[in-house]
Formats: sequence, C-alpha cells, structure tokens
Amino acid sequence: MPFINEFLWGGASAASQSEGGFSARGLSTYDVITAGTATEPRKVTLRLADGSRGLIENFRTDPMPDGAEAVIDPDLYYPSHNAVDFYHHYKEDIALFAQMGYRCFRTSIAWTRIFPNGDDPEPSEEGLKFYDDVFDECLKYGIEPIITLVHYDYPLHLSKTLGGWKNRKSIEHFLRYCSVVFTRYSGKVKYWIAFNEINGIMNNGYRSFGFASANEEDKYLAMHHILVAAAKAAILARNIQPGCKVGMMLAYNLFYPLTCKPQDVVMTMENMEKNNYFFTEVQCRGEYPPYMLQYFRNRGYAIDILPEDLKALKKGTVDYLAISYYQSSVIGKDGVVRQDDSVRRMQNPFLKVGGWGRQIDPEGLRIALNDLYLRYRIPLMVVENGLGTIDSVQADGTIQDDEHIDYWREHIRQMKIAVEEDGVQVIGYMTWGCTDVISSGTGEMQKRYGQIYVDLDDEGKGTLRRIPKKSFYWYRDVIRSNGQKLD
Ligand code: BG6
Repeated sequence: MPFINEFLWGGASAASQSEGGFSARGLSTYDVITAGTATEPRKVTLRLADGSRGLIENFRTDPMPDGAEAVIDPDLYYPSHNAVDFYHHYKEDIALFAQMGYRCFRTSIAWTRIFPNGDDPEPSEEGLKFYDDVFDECLKYGIEPIITLVHYDYPLHLSKTLGGWKNRKSIEHFLRYCSVVFTRYSGKVKYWIAFNEINGIMNNGYRSFGFASANEEDKYLAMHHILVAAAKAAILARNIQPGCKVGMMLAYNLFYPLTCKPQDVVMTMENMEKNNYFFTEVQCRGEYPPYMLQYFRNRGYAIDILPEDLKALKKGTVDYLAISYYQSSVIGKDGVVRQDDSVRRMQNPFLKVGGWGRQIDPEGLRIALNDLYLRYRIPLMVVENGLGTIDSVQADGTIQDDEHIDYWREHIRQMKIAVEEDGVQVIGYMTWGCTDVISSGTGEMQKRYGQIYVDLDDEGKGTLRRIPKKSFYWYRDVIRSNGQKLD
C-alpha cells in the first residue's frame, strides 16, 4: 500500500471563512475587513479621530492613523459575519464530508467564540458547546477533527487594548484560551495546530497581528511573541492531554531561481531561509537560526528574546509538520522586487497558470515534502492544497469542476511518489475547500475551492444551498481506494 491504512484523507476550512454566526461570538479583527477582488485589496474600516470614516489596506499594513479605531460600518458588507453559515449548517456539511469518506476534517476554533473579548473572566459556554457539537458530529462518522487555534484572526478588543501581538501580554491571553479548549476537548481532539501558516502571518497585516504597521521590527517582535505562544501551547497541550499531537503549520513557499546565475541562486536561498526555514527551525528544532539573529543585529532590531523564551522554544517543539501548498514562484536578481522587499513572483514558462494567477506545480509538492522530511524527519501532513476556480451550476444541476480534479489528481500523484519512491512519511492530505468558503486573500465567494458548492455570491446573497460537485464523487473514490484510484 502506498499510504498507511490510517492515512488521514480529508479537507480543510477555517472559522472566519466558513462559520459566520457572528452575533453569537465576540468581534475579531477579521470582522472589520471588507471584501475585495483580484484587483481591489481588502480594507479595514475605521472611525477617524474626527468621527469621519476611513479605510486602510489590510495586507499592505498601512499604519493606523492617530486616534483612529477599527469599527464596523453598517453600510458595508463584511464576508466573515455570515460566511457560508457553517454555524447553522455544520450537521449537513459534516454528513456530506462523511459521504465522501473523509477521515479527517481540519478547521479552526474562533478564539472570540470562546473568549468574546479575549480577556473575559470566564469563557463562553455557548461557544464551547458549539465546538462540542461540531466535534461530536465529526466523531459520529469516524472523522478525526484536526484543529487550528488561530487561523488569521485575533480578538478585536485585545487589538484595541493591547495593540496586538506586539504586546507580550497577548501570549497570556492566548494560553488561557488554549488551556480552556485543551481541557474541554481532551478526548475529542487529538491533533492540534497552534497557528495557521505561521510564516504567512508576516504578510497577513492587521488582521493577524492585531495592529497595523509596515514596520518590519514591529512585525518580527510580534512574530517572536507568536512563536513563544506556539511553543508554550505545545507544552500546555501535552501537560493537559498526554498523547495528543501538536503540529506547526507552514505555508510552503517554493522559490525557483530565475536563472542558474549564482546571484539568483543566492537570492532563492535567502528567500527560502527567511520565508520558510526560519519558522521550521524554531518550531521543529527549537532554535532561532543564526541568519535570523544576524538579520536582527544588522538592522538594530530590538526583539525581546528572553532566556525563558529560549527554554520554551526548545521544550515546545512540534510532533508533526503540516504544510499548505498551492504553487511555486520564480525569483531572480533581475526581476522586480517590491519596495517593501517582499518577493514579486515571475512567470514560470514551464507551468500552467490557473485562476487568480496561481502557477500550478504538482512536482513542487514532491520537492516540498522531500525538503522538509530530510531536514526534520518528523511526520508531515499536507493540510491545504487546492485551486480557486469559477464554478457554475449547469442547466442539468451539475457542477463540472474538472479543473479541481486535475489539480488534486496531479498533486496527489506527486505526494504518492514522495511516499512510495522517496520514503517520506506523510500521514495526511487535506484539500483546501470542503464546501466553498470565503476567500481569505480577496474576500470573494466566486473563488471556489470546495468539492461542495455553496449558493452564495460576492455580496453575501444566495440560498446557501449545498450541492456536491463532480469532484465530490471523484474524491470519494480516491479516499475509498486509499489513493489508488486517481483517474
Ligand atoms: C491559505 C489560507 O493561505 O490559502 C486559507 O490558509 C486560504 O485561509 C487559502 O483561504 C486560499 O487562499 P485564498 O486567498 O484564495 O482564499
């Protein structure tokens, strides 16, 4: 058998993109962010010091104007408020996952459903009960919940009172939340992930950090607190729930050099280090890599790395390494690099480009799995892999999402090669998208990733009806055959 019998086939989602049900929880930073499009960035809505309305871009991390406050504008549409209403449809959705034969379902807990303000004296019983119900429903069908604690959100109240992850106190509040959910769901949840795409947080702006700033020193300071929080969460989970498995989650950024010019290769190496290995070194080995410490020193960044933090990082390393993998990028010295030093992706002439400019590179997944397994020798999980496409319901009621099937088939093929021929230990594979959800990057609904169509449009209008797509039946056969039947 190419895959172990217990191989975790399933799909992945996230609270802020699927749940909705926002009147039954506190507000998060996600809830003050508008929808965008492929060309129109998502914005944070503000009340300015003089009482007028204002906007800043979320991802570009425009600084917050003095005296401004992030607020909901009642005239605007915020996709996270109702999303695809998993909050009221979870039974129907999980039953459909079971029909596909899912062995696992990855989603996140909304921190503000447990602690609506982040610093409340007691957790919300209503919120805790909701996840009890969701996990029970999964377990009823033998579906293993794989749970992320923070998927790009942060309590809005803490953002206003503490200034987000820049403030070390965020660690304490996060650990209180962890302690409550580890205790409550012990016996229901075995696989935990502290932060979704921990490296992605660097480019995720206001909503992940809980503060708006383009200052790199601020971001690395916040990231240090997040890394310490993740390590302490792993230690706490093992104390509360011996035998549980705590993973890290990396958005694997695969960079290829534009040419074999040594300068291009060096640039690629530097970007792999800074965007990927910095995070895996800390979370899998428990140490800051020397190049990052040097990077901080060279720039005079004052990151408060305390001796007790170093101890926590060492003790709180992870049991497994989960990745999201979507595409690869080409970079080179002669390419254009954006002013903020982030990397501009160039076209790879050997790859097909899918919707929203994704460069489809199935072999890249094999490279990713080999790369990480050779470095850390711990089990790997692919916890997100997918392609956003425009799917429509045909006159006969079917949805022919062949692009999804082609994408997943080729990626699963490469994962099989990594397992069967390269000897990599992969313990699970999750598509991004089970039902369609709100896009994280653009806030659109028309960018669809799931095997189950949801009748909802970019303005939040629709019946919310769930319809299995062609890929639903294809993926069911893949799972039934444990990855043997791909055609
Ligand atoms: C991952 C995120 O980066 O990519 C998900 O973890 C996200 O939250 C997914 O939805 C797809 O990206 P997007 O922007 O197309 O939704």
